[in-house]
Amino acid sequence: MTKLLVLNGPNLNLLGTREPGQYGHETLKDVEEKCRQVAAQFDCEVECFQSNTEGHLIDAIHKAGVEFKNGECVGVVFNPGAYTHTSIALHDAIKGVDVPVIEVHISNVHARETFRHHSYISPVAAGTIIGMGTKGYPLAIKYLLED
Ligand code: DQA
Repeated sequence: MTKLLVLNGPNLNLLGTREPGQYGHETLKDVEEKCRQVAAQFDCEVECFQSNTEGHLIDAIHKAGVEFKNGECVGVVFNPGAYTHTSIALHDAIKGVDVPVIEVHISNVHARETFRHHSYISPVAAGTIIGMGTKGYPLAIKYLLED
């Protein structure tokens, strides 16, 4: 059975209660369950990990890189939260491994504050899904798993 990683960065553990006008009412658990259901249709397992710590996210990407090399992991669906706009270290981590990373943002960052318009992740991502709400996660999974 194949596997993919759904990786969420800082403050995404607060989904459901955090700025619902921006991010909706679903909790992270709801989103992760939806991801598992979609991936199961493709006989794929989902590993979910959320951290508020940059280094832990870097470690998770490195691990996915090793698993990709071993044929155990098909890709990463990654919402880096605010680290999107600040983290050269996450950019380098993705660049340093071969695993395809799909960058997901729940809100349309381009319609928000200018500091959210730049992403350090987009240049090293295989693709980006922005502003489609939590539907972006299953869409990214389908992209990774559909032939
Ligand atoms: C976000 C957008 C980021 O700008 C913000 O810092 C987040 C969430 C999104 O999913 O829309 O934490 O990545």
